[in-house]
Amino acid sequence: MDDTQIAGDLTRVLISKEQLETRMAELAAEIDRDYEGRDLLLVGVLNGAVMVMADLSRALRSRVRMDWMAISSYGSGTQSSGVVRILKDLNTDISGMHVLVVEDIIDTGLTLSYLISNLKSRNPASLKIMTAFRKPEAQQMAVEVSYVGFDIPNEFVVGYGLDYDGHYRNLTSVGTLAPHVYS
Ligand code: XMP
Ligand code: MG
Repeated sequence: MDDTQIAGDLTRVLISKEQLETRMAELAAEIDRDYEGRDLLLVGVLNGAVMVMADLSRALRSRVRMDWMAISSYGSGTQSSGVVRILKDLNTDISGMHVLVVEDIIDTGLTLSYLISNLKSRNPASLKIMTAFRKPEAQQMAVEVSYVGFDIPNEFVVGYGLDYDGHYRNLTSVGTLAPHVYS
């Protein structure tokens, strides 16, 4: 979806399509270097990480595998609760594998810290995190993240996989919603 088509629903664009492309390519180069000679499994967290995964994985030069998990984080509206349910588990047995979790956004960190402890219990050879966006001011749980696309202000954002009520995931840039959309 072209951003101008729904520009009226955004108050401002925080990160442009071009910035996203450049940053994903930079992170892919880092990941290529860090995992050189090792088999890597990318684990995408549905639904938000679909765009990140598509761009990051195609920017990589290394041969990788991909798998997906779907989790629901209970909470009302735009607030995370940290109570997490697995809606779709991995198809892969990750024991002994090098795993890189690919996330859309880390807000409080509650969802991710649950996911990490869950995945660690399956004994992967290594487990690291990549996220497209992170809100440092919102963080409640310390989670070690190896690759961060962009640190952003503590505001609700949409686009590039991120939704409001299911909409705006196919927006090519990331921005903040205009109040008339949710009020
Ligand atoms: P926590 O707080 O557990 O939240 O780190 C992680 C999940 O909450 C969703 N989330 C957002 N979704 N715009 C969105 O569209 C946002 O600004 C936002 N902040 C958090 C998201 O699903 C993420 O995985
Ligand atoms: Mg998510």
